[in-house]
Amino acid sequence: MAGERIMRVLKKGDLEGIVAIDTRITNQNRREYYARKIDTITDPERSINTSIVAELDGKVVGFIMGDVYFGEFGIPETSATIDTLGVDPSIQNKGLASELLDQFMMNMKAAGVNKVYTLVNWDDFALEKFFSRHKFVPSKRINLEFQMP
Ligand SMILES: CC(C)(COP(=O)(O)OP(=O)(O)OC[C@H]1O[C@@H](n2cnc3c(N)ncnc32)[C@H](O)[C@@H]1OP(=O)(O)O)[C@@H](O)C(=O)NCCC(=O)NCCS
Repeated sequence: MAGERIMRVLKKGDLEGIVAIDTRITNQNRREYYARKIDTITDPERSINTSIVAELDGKVVGFIMGDVYFGEFGIPETSATIDTLGVDPSIQNKGLASELLDQFMMNMKAAGVNKVYTLVNWDDFALEKFFSRHKFVPSKRINLEFQMP
């Protein structure tokens, strides 16, 4: 991949770049969702900001968003979640998501995290394969849902 590539902490000003990538991936505009999410993860009062973006020549081309939980939700260990991972379709399959995940995991290790959780739609085989290749396995926790009548 030509150009200068850096990984850095996600900041508020990354909103537009992230929405653009997400729109290219999902064909939806989820600006409101990302605006709310970025507000939360960049709020120093709430938690540590563990989310990372990848820049290529100054442009956001990938991101990983997550959170750290210190013994919350009845889970006694320090754990983390990966909520969203996305790479611009024009530069997928060049190792960018792997690099973002490696950096995220290094930060999690430094924060004393024991376990990292993520949710993948059962039919999202590409994402499932990606996590499987990075040694993620099915969790002992099960995801329950209730369909509102
Ligand atoms: C899944 C996803 C994150 C992977 O991103 P990526 O940057 O393409 O991931 P990587 O390049 O690290 O790995 C993908 C493949 O490229 C291969 N690869 C890694 N480095 C490579 C390199 N330097 N040269 C060639 N191939 C490489 C990997 O082996 C891997 O192959 P595999 O899947 O067959 O095992 C990306 O496809 C994506 O954003 N998908 C959409 C996810 C989504 O729906 N998110 C929610 C909305 S944002």
